Amino acid sequence: MSLIHAAPPWWHSAVVYQIYPWSFQDSNGDGIGDLPGIISRLDYLKGTPDSLDIDAIWLSPLYPSPMHDFGYDVMDYCAIDSRFGTLEDFDRLTAEAHRRGIRVVMDLVLNHTSDQHPWFIESRSSRRSEKRDWYYWADGTAHHPPSNWAARFGGSAWTKDKHTGQYYLHSFLPEQPDLNWTNPAVRDAMFGVVRFWLERGVDGFRLDAINWLGKDTSWPDNPRRLAWRSYYRQVHRYDRDQPQAHETLRALRVAVKNYPDTMLVGEASSDTPGGPAAFYGSGTNELHEVFDFRLLRSPWQADVFRRLILESDRAVPGGGWPPIVFSNHDQSRHIDRYGKDGDPVRRARAAALLLFTLRGTPFVYYGEELGLRDGRLRRSDLRDPYTIRYWPWKKGRDPARTPMPWDTSPHAGFTTGTPWLPLSADWRRTNVVQGQRDTGSMLSLYKRLIRVKKGSRALTAGSYEPIDGGPNDCLLFHRRVQTDTHQEAMLVAINFSTHAQTISLPTSASLPQRSGRLVLSTDPQRSEGRWSADRFSLGPEEGMMVEIE
Ligand code: NOJ
Repeated sequence: MSLIHAAPPWWHSAVVYQIYPWSFQDSNGDGIGDLPGIISRLDYLKGTPDSLDIDAIWLSPLYPSPMHDFGYDVMDYCAIDSRFGTLEDFDRLTAEAHRRGIRVVMDLVLNHTSDQHPWFIESRSSRRSEKRDWYYWADGTAHHPPSNWAARFGGSAWTKDKHTGQYYLHSFLPEQPDLNWTNPAVRDAMFGVVRFWLERGVDGFRLDAINWLGKDTSWPDNPRRLAWRSYYRQVHRYDRDQPQAHETLRALRVAVKNYPDTMLVGEASSDTPGGPAAFYGSGTNELHEVFDFRLLRSPWQADVFRRLILESDRAVPGGGWPPIVFSNHDQSRHIDRYGKDGDPVRRARAAALLLFTLRGTPFVYYGEELGLRDGRLRRSDLRDPYTIRYWPWKKGRDPARTPMPWDTSPHAGFTTGTPWLPLSADWRRTNVVQGQRDTGSMLSLYKRLIRVKKGSRALTAGSYEPIDGGPNDCLLFHRRVQTDTHQEAMLVAINFSTHAQTISLPTSASLPQRSGRLVLSTDPQRSEGRWSADRFSLGPEEGMMVEIE
Protein backbone atom coordinates (compact mmCIF):
# COMPACT_ATOMS: atom_id res chain seq x y z
CA MET A 1 0.00 0.00 0.00
CA SER A 2 1.23 3.54 -0.73
CA LEU A 3 2.00 5.99 2.01
CA ILE A 4 1.53 9.66 1.19
CA HIS A 5 4.81 11.59 1.07
CA ALA A 6 5.36 15.32 0.99
CA ALA A 7 4.55 17.04 -2.31
CA PRO A 8 4.90 14.48 -5.10
CA PRO A 9 5.87 15.87 -8.52
CA TRP A 10 3.07 17.53 -10.47
CA TRP A 11 2.76 14.70 -12.99
CA HIS A 12 1.66 12.21 -10.32
CA SER A 13 -1.77 13.80 -10.20
CA ALA A 14 -1.88 15.34 -13.67
CA VAL A 15 -3.94 14.47 -16.74
CA VAL A 16 -1.98 15.08 -19.94
CA TYR A 17 -3.74 15.89 -23.21
CA GLN A 18 -1.93 15.21 -26.48
CA ILE A 19 -2.51 17.79 -29.19
CA TYR A 20 -1.64 16.86 -32.76
CA PRO A 21 -1.01 20.40 -34.05
CA TRP A 22 -2.01 19.62 -37.63
CA SER A 23 -5.50 18.68 -36.50
CA PHE A 24 -6.62 20.63 -33.44
CA GLN A 25 -7.75 24.04 -34.69
CA ASP A 26 -6.93 26.08 -37.78
CA SER A 27 -7.04 29.87 -37.43
CA ASN A 28 -6.04 31.10 -40.90
CA GLY A 29 -8.07 28.95 -43.28
CA ASP A 30 -5.17 26.96 -44.76
CA GLY A 31 -6.73 23.70 -43.54
CA ILE A 32 -3.87 22.98 -41.12
CA GLY A 33 -4.11 23.48 -37.37
CA ASP A 34 -1.88 26.12 -35.81
CA LEU A 35 -0.79 27.77 -32.57
CA PRO A 36 -3.29 30.67 -32.61
CA GLY A 37 -5.93 27.99 -33.18
CA ILE A 38 -4.78 26.04 -30.12
CA ILE A 39 -4.77 29.24 -28.04
CA SER A 40 -8.35 29.95 -29.07
CA ARG A 41 -9.40 26.53 -27.75
CA LEU A 42 -7.61 26.51 -24.40
CA ASP A 43 -10.83 27.22 -22.51
CA TYR A 44 -12.10 23.88 -23.72
CA LEU A 45 -9.19 22.28 -21.88
CA LYS A 46 -9.16 24.22 -18.63
CA GLY A 47 -10.33 27.26 -16.75
CA THR A 48 -14.13 27.33 -17.16
CA PRO A 49 -16.87 25.20 -15.56
CA ASP A 50 -17.36 23.49 -18.94
CA SER A 51 -13.68 22.65 -19.43
CA LEU A 52 -12.28 19.14 -19.53
CA ASP A 53 -9.88 20.16 -16.76
CA ILE A 54 -6.64 18.60 -17.95
CA ASP A 55 -3.32 19.72 -16.44
CA ALA A 56 -0.80 19.60 -19.26
CA ILE A 57 -0.69 19.56 -23.03
CA TRP A 58 1.86 17.57 -24.99
CA LEU A 59 2.33 19.12 -28.40
CA SER A 60 3.50 16.81 -31.17
CA PRO A 61 6.40 18.45 -33.06
CA LEU A 62 6.03 22.09 -34.05
CA TYR A 63 9.54 22.59 -35.47
CA PRO A 64 10.25 23.62 -39.05
CA SER A 65 10.18 20.45 -41.09
CA PRO A 66 9.78 19.19 -44.65
CA MET A 67 7.08 17.00 -43.01
CA HIS A 68 8.12 13.67 -44.50
CA ASP A 69 7.27 12.30 -41.05
CA PHE A 70 4.89 15.09 -40.08
CA GLY A 71 7.33 16.97 -37.89
CA TYR A 72 9.41 14.07 -36.57
CA ASP A 73 11.94 15.15 -39.21
CA VAL A 74 13.26 18.40 -37.74
CA MET A 75 15.13 21.07 -39.72
CA ASP A 76 15.59 23.53 -36.87
CA TYR A 77 15.10 22.69 -33.20
CA CYS A 78 14.85 26.29 -32.04
CA ALA A 79 12.01 27.59 -34.21
CA ILE A 80 8.38 26.99 -35.12
CA ASP A 81 7.22 25.76 -38.52
CA SER A 82 5.49 28.62 -40.35
CA ARG A 83 2.46 26.38 -40.93
CA PHE A 84 1.87 26.51 -37.17
CA GLY A 85 2.92 30.10 -36.48
CA THR A 86 5.91 31.80 -34.91
CA LEU A 87 7.99 31.68 -31.75
CA GLU A 88 5.92 34.64 -30.51
CA ASP A 89 2.78 32.55 -30.97
CA PHE A 90 4.46 29.78 -29.01
CA ASP A 91 5.33 32.17 -26.17
CA ARG A 92 1.75 33.39 -26.16
CA LEU A 93 0.49 29.83 -26.05
CA THR A 94 2.76 29.03 -23.09
CA ALA A 95 1.66 32.17 -21.25
CA GLU A 96 -2.04 31.54 -21.93
CA ALA A 97 -1.69 27.89 -20.94
CA HIS A 98 0.15 28.74 -17.73
CA ARG A 99 -2.43 31.39 -16.87
CA ARG A 100 -5.04 28.62 -16.85
CA GLY A 101 -2.83 26.17 -14.93
CA ILE A 102 -1.93 24.07 -17.98
CA ARG A 103 1.69 22.91 -18.28
CA VAL A 104 3.32 22.65 -21.68
CA VAL A 105 5.23 19.55 -22.78
CA MET A 106 7.24 19.73 -26.02
CA ASP A 107 7.99 16.79 -28.26
CA LEU A 108 11.73 16.34 -28.68
CA VAL A 109 13.24 14.20 -31.39
CA LEU A 110 16.75 13.27 -30.31
CA ASN A 111 17.51 10.21 -32.42
CA HIS A 112 17.38 11.79 -35.85
CA THR A 113 17.03 15.07 -37.71
CA SER A 114 15.64 15.84 -41.12
CA ASP A 115 18.03 15.35 -44.02
CA GLN A 116 17.33 19.06 -44.60
CA HIS A 117 18.78 20.06 -41.24
CA PRO A 118 21.91 22.25 -41.75
CA TRP A 119 23.88 19.75 -39.62
CA PHE A 120 23.17 16.94 -42.05
CA ILE A 121 23.62 19.10 -45.13
CA GLU A 122 27.05 20.00 -43.81
CA SER A 123 27.78 16.41 -42.77
CA ARG A 124 27.01 14.95 -46.17
CA SER A 125 28.91 17.66 -48.06
CA SER A 126 32.27 15.83 -47.79
CA ARG A 127 33.99 12.99 -46.00
CA ARG A 128 36.16 15.64 -44.38
CA SER A 129 33.29 17.84 -43.17
CA GLU A 130 33.69 19.02 -39.58
CA LYS A 131 30.20 17.60 -38.95
CA ARG A 132 30.83 14.28 -40.72
CA ASP A 133 30.73 12.37 -37.44
CA TRP A 134 27.56 14.06 -36.20
CA TYR A 135 25.80 11.25 -38.08
CA TYR A 136 26.71 7.62 -38.73
CA TRP A 137 28.59 7.12 -41.97
CA ALA A 138 30.08 3.79 -43.00
CA ASP A 139 31.40 1.97 -46.05
CA GLY A 140 29.49 -0.97 -47.38
CA THR A 141 30.69 -3.39 -49.98
CA ALA A 142 29.99 -2.80 -53.67
CA HIS A 143 26.33 -3.84 -53.42
CA HIS A 144 25.73 -4.24 -49.70
CA PRO A 145 25.22 -1.75 -46.92
CA PRO A 146 27.38 -2.02 -43.76
CA SER A 147 24.80 -4.25 -42.00
CA ASN A 148 21.44 -5.94 -42.60
CA TRP A 149 19.60 -3.51 -40.32
CA ALA A 150 16.02 -2.77 -41.34
CA ALA A 151 14.40 0.66 -41.01
CA ARG A 152 11.24 0.95 -38.90
CA PHE A 153 9.28 2.32 -41.85
CA GLY A 154 10.45 -0.34 -44.31
CA GLY A 155 13.54 -1.12 -46.39
CA SER A 156 17.17 -0.96 -45.34
CA ALA A 157 18.27 1.36 -42.53
CA TRP A 158 21.20 2.41 -44.74
CA THR A 159 21.11 4.70 -47.75
CA LYS A 160 24.10 5.24 -49.99
CA ASP A 161 25.01 8.85 -50.54
CA LYS A 162 26.12 9.20 -54.16
CA HIS A 163 28.21 12.29 -53.54
CA THR A 164 30.62 10.82 -50.96
CA GLY A 165 30.12 7.12 -51.72
CA GLN A 166 29.35 6.15 -48.13
CA TYR A 167 26.18 4.93 -46.45
CA TYR A 168 24.36 6.85 -43.72
CA LEU A 169 22.14 5.26 -41.10
CA HIS A 170 18.45 6.09 -40.70
CA SER A 171 16.34 4.02 -38.33
CA PHE A 172 13.12 5.46 -39.81
CA LEU A 173 12.76 7.15 -43.22
CA PRO A 174 15.80 7.87 -45.44
CA GLU A 175 14.88 11.54 -44.87
CA GLN A 176 15.58 11.05 -41.13
CA PRO A 177 19.33 10.41 -40.66
CA ASP A 178 20.30 9.19 -37.17
CA LEU A 179 22.47 11.43 -35.02
CA ASN A 180 25.67 10.01 -33.61
CA TRP A 181 25.22 10.28 -29.85
CA THR A 182 28.75 9.07 -29.13
CA ASN A 183 29.88 12.47 -30.38
CA PRO A 184 30.03 14.97 -27.46
CA ALA A 185 29.34 17.85 -29.88
CA VAL A 186 25.94 16.31 -30.72
CA ARG A 187 25.10 16.02 -27.05
CA ASP A 188 26.13 19.64 -26.39
CA ALA A 189 24.07 20.92 -29.29
CA MET A 190 20.97 18.95 -28.27
CA PHE A 191 21.21 19.83 -24.60
CA GLY A 192 21.46 23.44 -25.76
CA VAL A 193 18.10 22.89 -27.48
CA VAL A 194 16.67 21.50 -24.24
CA ARG A 195 17.79 24.62 -22.36
CA PHE A 196 16.42 26.87 -25.12
CA TRP A 197 12.87 25.54 -24.53
CA LEU A 198 13.16 25.36 -20.76
CA GLU A 199 14.19 29.01 -20.72
CA ARG A 200 11.07 29.75 -22.75
CA GLY A 201 9.04 28.17 -19.97
CA VAL A 202 8.17 24.67 -21.14
CA ASP A 203 7.44 22.18 -18.37
CA GLY A 204 8.66 18.98 -19.88
CA PHE A 205 9.55 16.90 -22.90
CA ARG A 206 8.07 13.88 -24.54
CA LEU A 207 11.20 12.20 -25.88
CA ASP A 208 10.84 10.41 -29.17
CA ALA A 209 12.25 6.96 -29.87
CA ILE A 210 14.69 6.94 -26.93
CA ASN A 211 15.69 3.31 -27.25
CA TRP A 212 17.27 4.11 -30.61
CA LEU A 213 19.75 6.56 -29.08
CA GLY A 214 22.72 4.20 -29.29
CA LYS A 215 23.95 1.64 -31.83
CA ASP A 216 26.63 -0.98 -31.95
CA THR A 217 29.02 0.91 -34.20
CA SER A 218 30.92 -2.19 -35.25
CA TRP A 219 27.75 -2.73 -37.37
CA PRO A 220 27.12 -6.45 -36.77
CA ASP A 221 24.19 -8.02 -38.64
CA ASN A 222 21.02 -8.45 -36.58
CA PRO A 223 20.00 -12.12 -36.15
CA ARG A 224 17.14 -13.15 -38.44
CA ARG A 225 13.73 -14.51 -37.47
CA LEU A 226 10.50 -15.39 -39.24
CA ALA A 227 7.92 -12.63 -39.55
CA TRP A 228 5.54 -11.09 -42.01
CA ARG A 229 7.00 -7.57 -42.24
CA SER A 230 10.64 -6.93 -43.05
CA TYR A 231 11.25 -4.88 -39.91
CA TYR A 232 10.27 -7.82 -37.72
CA ARG A 233 12.25 -10.36 -39.74
CA GLN A 234 15.21 -9.57 -37.53
CA VAL A 235 15.91 -9.34 -33.82
CA HIS A 236 16.89 -5.74 -33.19
CA ARG A 237 19.85 -6.66 -31.08
CA TYR A 238 22.42 -4.16 -32.29
CA ASP A 239 20.49 -1.17 -33.61
CA ARG A 240 18.38 -0.43 -30.50
CA ASP A 241 18.47 -0.61 -26.71
CA GLN A 242 22.21 -0.18 -26.43
CA PRO A 243 24.02 1.07 -23.28
CA GLN A 244 24.66 4.41 -25.03
CA ALA A 245 20.95 5.26 -24.79
CA HIS A 246 21.00 4.94 -21.02
CA GLU A 247 24.16 7.00 -20.76
CA THR A 248 22.55 9.74 -22.84
CA LEU A 249 19.39 9.80 -20.73
CA ARG A 250 21.39 9.95 -17.52
CA ALA A 251 23.26 12.94 -18.91
CA LEU A 252 19.96 14.54 -19.94
CA ARG A 253 18.55 14.06 -16.46
CA VAL A 254 21.59 15.90 -15.08
CA ALA A 255 21.19 18.62 -17.72
CA VAL A 256 17.64 19.45 -16.55
CA LYS A 257 18.54 19.42 -12.85
CA ASN A 258 18.37 23.19 -12.60
CA TYR A 259 14.76 23.10 -13.80
CA PRO A 260 13.34 20.93 -11.03
CA ASP A 261 9.72 20.69 -12.19
CA THR A 262 10.62 19.38 -15.63
CA MET A 263 8.94 16.15 -16.63
CA LEU A 264 10.78 13.76 -18.96
CA VAL A 265 8.51 11.17 -20.52
CA GLY A 266 10.00 8.80 -23.04
CA GLU A 267 8.76 6.68 -25.88
CA ALA A 268 10.55 3.33 -26.06
CA SER A 269 9.33 0.56 -28.34
CA SER A 270 11.56 -1.97 -26.63
CA ASP A 271 11.13 -5.69 -26.71
CA THR A 272 14.27 -6.30 -24.67
CA PRO A 273 14.01 -8.25 -21.40
CA GLY A 274 13.83 -5.11 -19.22
CA GLY A 275 11.22 -3.69 -21.60
CA PRO A 276 10.57 0.04 -21.68
CA ALA A 277 10.92 0.21 -17.89
CA ALA A 278 14.69 -0.08 -18.33
CA PHE A 279 14.63 3.61 -19.22
CA TYR A 280 13.68 4.65 -15.70
CA GLY A 281 17.26 3.64 -14.85
CA SER A 282 17.44 3.34 -11.07
CA GLY A 283 14.15 5.24 -10.85
CA THR A 284 15.81 8.56 -10.19
CA ASN A 285 18.56 8.85 -12.78
CA GLU A 286 16.95 8.43 -16.23
CA LEU A 287 13.33 9.27 -17.14
CA HIS A 288 10.42 10.17 -14.90
CA GLU A 289 7.93 8.33 -17.07
CA VAL A 290 8.26 5.79 -19.88
CA PHE A 291 5.38 4.74 -22.13
CA ASP A 292 4.57 1.09 -22.06
CA PHE A 293 2.53 0.28 -25.17
CA ARG A 294 1.63 -3.29 -24.27
CA LEU A 295 -1.91 -2.40 -23.16
CA LEU A 296 -2.36 -0.24 -26.21
CA ARG A 297 -1.42 -3.16 -28.43
CA SER A 298 -3.43 -5.70 -26.48
CA PRO A 299 -6.74 -7.21 -27.56
CA TRP A 300 -9.71 -6.30 -25.34
CA GLN A 301 -9.42 -9.34 -23.06
CA ALA A 302 -9.62 -9.24 -19.30
CA ASP A 303 -6.98 -11.91 -18.68
CA VAL A 304 -4.46 -10.21 -20.97
CA PHE A 305 -5.12 -6.81 -19.38
CA ARG A 306 -4.87 -8.32 -15.89
CA ARG A 307 -1.44 -9.77 -16.61
CA LEU A 308 -0.05 -6.77 -18.48
CA ILE A 309 -1.28 -4.20 -15.97
CA LEU A 310 0.34 -6.03 -13.10
CA GLU A 311 3.59 -6.59 -15.01
CA SER A 312 3.92 -3.00 -16.13
CA ASP A 313 2.86 -1.52 -12.79
CA ARG A 314 5.39 -3.61 -10.88
CA ALA A 315 8.16 -2.94 -13.42
CA VAL A 316 8.30 0.77 -12.53
CA PRO A 317 11.04 1.33 -9.98
CA GLY A 318 10.55 3.61 -6.97
CA GLY A 319 11.01 7.21 -8.08
CA GLY A 320 9.49 6.48 -11.48
CA TRP A 321 5.83 6.94 -12.38
CA PRO A 322 3.88 5.15 -15.14
CA PRO A 323 2.10 6.99 -17.94
CA ILE A 324 -1.18 5.33 -18.96
CA VAL A 325 -2.03 5.55 -22.65
CA PHE A 326 -4.45 3.81 -24.99
CA SER A 327 -4.31 6.07 -28.07
CA ASN A 328 -1.81 8.32 -29.80
CA HIS A 329 -0.92 9.64 -33.24
CA ASP A 330 0.80 6.41 -34.29
CA GLN A 331 -2.10 3.97 -33.91
CA SER A 332 -5.67 3.42 -34.87
CA ARG A 333 -7.85 4.99 -32.15
CA HIS A 334 -8.59 2.60 -29.29
CA ILE A 335 -12.36 2.91 -29.71
CA ASP A 336 -11.82 1.10 -33.03
CA ARG A 337 -9.06 -1.24 -31.86
CA TYR A 338 -10.72 -2.43 -28.65
CA GLY A 339 -14.20 -2.22 -30.13
CA LYS A 340 -13.66 -4.72 -32.94
CA ASP A 341 -15.91 -7.60 -31.82
CA GLY A 342 -18.08 -5.84 -29.30
CA ASP A 343 -19.82 -2.52 -28.76
CA PRO A 344 -17.12 0.09 -29.47
CA VAL A 345 -18.77 2.87 -27.45
CA ARG A 346 -19.38 0.73 -24.38
CA ARG A 347 -15.81 -0.56 -24.57
CA ALA A 348 -14.35 2.91 -25.00
CA ARG A 349 -16.30 3.99 -21.91
CA ALA A 350 -14.93 1.06 -19.94
CA ALA A 351 -11.42 1.83 -21.23
CA ALA A 352 -11.86 5.45 -20.09
CA LEU A 353 -12.66 4.23 -16.60
CA LEU A 354 -9.48 2.19 -16.67
CA LEU A 355 -7.41 5.09 -18.01
CA PHE A 356 -8.29 7.24 -15.02
CA THR A 357 -8.17 4.57 -12.34
CA LEU A 358 -4.88 2.80 -13.03
CA ARG A 359 -1.83 4.01 -11.14
CA GLY A 360 -0.16 6.62 -13.32
CA THR A 361 -0.58 9.73 -15.43
CA PRO A 362 -3.45 9.39 -17.95
CA PHE A 363 -2.57 10.59 -21.46
CA VAL A 364 -5.64 11.56 -23.49
CA TYR A 365 -5.22 11.79 -27.27
CA TYR A 366 -7.24 14.71 -28.70
CA GLY A 367 -10.73 13.60 -29.75
CA GLU A 368 -10.63 10.40 -27.72
CA GLU A 369 -12.70 12.20 -25.07
CA LEU A 370 -15.45 12.60 -27.68
CA GLY A 371 -15.38 8.97 -28.74
CA LEU A 372 -13.98 10.06 -32.10
CA ARG A 373 -13.56 7.14 -34.51
CA ASP A 374 -10.80 6.49 -37.04
CA GLY A 375 -11.36 8.35 -40.30
CA ARG A 376 -12.43 6.22 -43.25
CA LEU A 377 -9.91 7.44 -45.78
CA ARG A 378 -9.41 6.70 -49.43
CA ARG A 379 -5.98 6.09 -50.92
CA SER A 380 -6.00 9.60 -52.37
CA ASP A 381 -6.65 11.14 -48.92
CA LEU A 382 -3.54 9.64 -47.32
CA ARG A 383 -0.62 11.89 -46.35
CA ASP A 384 1.69 9.86 -44.13
CA PRO A 385 4.41 7.93 -46.05
CA TYR A 386 4.24 5.04 -43.60
CA THR A 387 0.45 4.78 -44.00
CA ILE A 388 0.80 4.94 -47.78
CA ARG A 389 3.53 2.30 -47.86
CA TYR A 390 1.44 -0.35 -46.14
CA TRP A 391 -2.01 0.67 -47.44
CA PRO A 392 -4.44 -1.17 -47.69
CA TRP A 393 -2.81 -4.04 -45.72
CA LYS A 394 -2.43 -1.96 -42.60
CA LYS A 395 -4.71 0.84 -41.43
CA GLY A 396 -1.73 3.07 -40.67
CA ARG A 397 -1.65 6.39 -38.88
CA ASP A 398 -3.64 8.91 -40.92
CA PRO A 399 -7.07 7.58 -39.82
CA ALA A 400 -6.26 8.60 -36.23
CA ARG A 401 -5.06 12.08 -37.23
CA THR A 402 -8.27 13.56 -38.66
CA PRO A 403 -9.34 17.07 -37.57
CA MET A 404 -10.94 17.74 -34.21
CA PRO A 405 -14.72 18.12 -34.65
CA TRP A 406 -15.87 21.12 -32.62
CA ASP A 407 -19.44 21.66 -33.81
CA THR A 408 -21.78 21.07 -36.74
CA SER A 409 -20.72 24.13 -38.76
CA PRO A 410 -18.89 23.49 -42.07
CA HIS A 411 -15.75 21.39 -41.54
CA ALA A 412 -16.81 20.93 -37.92
CA GLY A 413 -15.51 24.35 -36.92
CA PHE A 414 -11.94 23.13 -37.49
CA THR A 415 -11.18 25.33 -40.48
CA THR A 416 -12.80 27.70 -42.94
CA GLY A 417 -10.66 26.15 -45.67
CA THR A 418 -10.22 22.58 -46.84
CA PRO A 419 -9.02 20.31 -44.01
CA TRP A 420 -5.63 18.69 -44.68
CA LEU A 421 -7.22 15.28 -43.91
CA PRO A 422 -10.96 14.61 -44.24
CA LEU A 423 -13.07 14.71 -41.09
CA SER A 424 -13.97 11.45 -39.43
CA ALA A 425 -17.33 10.21 -40.83
CA ASP A 426 -19.17 10.57 -37.50
CA TRP A 427 -18.34 14.25 -36.89
CA ARG A 428 -21.94 15.49 -37.10
CA ARG A 429 -22.89 13.28 -34.16
CA THR A 430 -19.54 13.23 -32.41
CA ASN A 431 -18.31 16.74 -31.72
CA VAL A 432 -17.59 18.98 -28.77
CA VAL A 433 -20.89 20.88 -28.75
CA GLN A 434 -22.92 17.66 -28.86
CA GLY A 435 -20.73 16.13 -26.15
CA GLN A 436 -21.21 19.13 -23.90
CA ARG A 437 -25.01 19.06 -24.26
CA ASP A 438 -25.49 15.35 -23.60
CA THR A 439 -24.92 14.19 -20.03
CA GLY A 440 -24.58 10.61 -21.28
CA SER A 441 -21.85 11.46 -23.80
CA MET A 442 -18.26 10.25 -23.80
CA LEU A 443 -17.15 13.82 -23.11
CA SER A 444 -19.36 14.03 -20.01
CA LEU A 445 -17.91 10.73 -18.83
CA TYR A 446 -14.32 11.96 -19.31
CA LYS A 447 -15.12 15.12 -17.36
CA ARG A 448 -16.62 13.16 -14.49
CA LEU A 449 -13.71 10.72 -14.44
CA ILE A 450 -11.21 13.56 -14.31
CA ARG A 451 -13.13 15.19 -11.48
CA VAL A 452 -13.38 11.97 -9.50
CA LYS A 453 -9.71 11.14 -10.04
CA LYS A 454 -8.57 14.52 -8.82
CA GLY A 455 -10.75 14.30 -5.74
CA SER A 456 -9.52 10.86 -4.73
CA ARG A 457 -6.21 10.29 -3.02
CA ALA A 458 -6.60 6.56 -3.54
CA LEU A 459 -6.68 7.22 -7.31
CA THR A 460 -3.88 9.78 -7.48
CA ALA A 461 -1.51 8.24 -4.97
CA GLY A 462 -2.71 4.76 -4.08
CA SER A 463 -1.05 1.47 -4.88
CA TYR A 464 -2.49 -0.91 -7.47
CA GLU A 465 -3.89 -4.07 -5.85
CA PRO A 466 -5.40 -6.75 -8.09
CA ILE A 467 -8.38 -8.70 -6.75
CA ASP A 468 -8.35 -12.38 -7.62
CA GLY A 469 -11.18 -14.83 -7.59
CA GLY A 470 -13.74 -12.96 -9.73
CA PRO A 471 -15.01 -14.13 -13.13
CA ASN A 472 -12.27 -14.55 -15.72
CA ASP A 473 -13.96 -12.00 -18.03
CA CYS A 474 -13.83 -9.27 -15.42
CA LEU A 475 -10.95 -7.09 -14.31
CA LEU A 476 -11.10 -6.31 -10.60
CA PHE A 477 -8.67 -4.24 -8.60
CA HIS A 478 -8.52 -1.58 -5.98
CA ARG A 479 -6.32 1.39 -5.35
CA ARG A 480 -5.41 2.02 -1.75
CA VAL A 481 -3.60 4.69 0.21
CA GLN A 482 -2.79 5.22 3.87
CA THR A 483 -2.95 8.83 5.05
CA ASP A 484 -1.89 10.04 8.51
CA THR A 485 -5.33 9.33 9.87
CA HIS A 486 -7.06 6.72 7.75
CA GLN A 487 -7.08 4.41 4.76
CA GLU A 488 -8.76 5.28 1.48
CA ALA A 489 -9.63 2.66 -1.12
CA MET A 490 -11.36 2.71 -4.49
CA LEU A 491 -12.49 -0.51 -6.12
CA VAL A 492 -12.73 -0.83 -9.90
CA ALA A 493 -14.67 -3.57 -11.67
CA ILE A 494 -14.79 -3.89 -15.45
CA ASN A 495 -16.74 -6.48 -17.36
CA PHE A 496 -14.87 -7.16 -20.63
CA SER A 497 -17.51 -9.59 -21.89
CA THR A 498 -20.63 -8.84 -23.92
CA HIS A 499 -22.96 -10.48 -21.39
CA ALA A 500 -24.02 -9.41 -17.89
CA GLN A 501 -22.18 -10.81 -14.86
CA THR A 502 -23.21 -11.28 -11.26
CA ILE A 503 -20.22 -11.28 -8.94
CA SER A 504 -19.60 -12.25 -5.35
CA LEU A 505 -16.07 -11.57 -4.31
CA PRO A 506 -14.41 -14.32 -2.28
CA THR A 507 -13.86 -13.44 1.35
CA SER A 508 -10.15 -13.89 0.69
CA ALA A 509 -10.21 -10.74 -1.55
CA SER A 510 -7.88 -8.28 0.15
CA LEU A 511 -10.41 -5.48 0.62
CA PRO A 512 -10.37 -3.16 3.63
CA GLN A 513 -14.20 -3.46 3.82
CA ARG A 514 -16.83 -5.43 1.89
CA SER A 515 -19.22 -2.57 1.34
CA GLY A 516 -19.04 0.82 -0.26
CA ARG A 517 -20.65 3.48 -2.38
CA LEU A 518 -20.97 3.25 -6.15
CA VAL A 519 -19.34 6.47 -7.34
CA LEU A 520 -19.60 6.04 -11.07
CA SER A 521 -20.65 3.55 -13.70
CA THR A 522 -19.92 3.69 -17.42
CA ASP A 523 -23.57 2.80 -17.98
CA PRO A 524 -25.44 6.13 -18.01
CA GLN A 525 -28.64 4.35 -16.88
CA ARG A 526 -27.25 2.97 -13.64
CA SER A 527 -27.82 5.05 -10.55
CA GLU A 528 -25.30 5.54 -7.79
CA GLY A 529 -25.91 3.91 -4.44
CA ARG A 530 -24.79 1.25 -1.98
CA TRP A 531 -22.55 -1.57 -3.10
CA SER A 532 -21.65 -4.89 -1.54
CA ALA A 533 -18.81 -7.28 -2.36
CA ASP A 534 -21.14 -10.16 -1.52
CA ARG A 535 -23.25 -9.64 -4.59
CA PHE A 536 -23.20 -7.07 -7.34
CA SER A 537 -23.84 -7.07 -11.04
CA LEU A 538 -22.14 -5.62 -14.09
CA GLY A 539 -23.88 -5.11 -17.42
CA PRO A 540 -22.22 -6.09 -20.71
CA GLU A 541 -18.93 -4.16 -21.09
CA GLU A 542 -19.78 -2.07 -18.06
CA GLY A 543 -17.20 -0.63 -15.69
CA MET A 544 -17.79 0.78 -12.23
CA MET A 545 -15.90 2.52 -9.48
CA VAL A 546 -16.75 2.02 -5.82
CA GLU A 547 -15.51 3.95 -2.84
CA ILE A 548 -14.82 1.41 -0.11
CA GLU A 549 -15.92 2.67 3.26
C1 NOJ B 1 7.71 7.92 -32.85
C2 NOJ B 1 6.72 8.97 -33.22
O1 NOJ B 1 5.63 8.90 -32.34
C3 NOJ B 1 6.33 8.71 -34.65
O2 NOJ B 1 5.24 9.49 -35.06
C4 NOJ B 1 7.54 8.95 -35.51
O3 NOJ B 1 7.22 8.64 -36.85
C5 NOJ B 1 8.72 8.09 -35.07
N1 NOJ B 1 8.90 8.09 -33.65
C6 NOJ B 1 10.00 8.60 -35.68
O4 NOJ B 1 10.33 9.84 -35.16
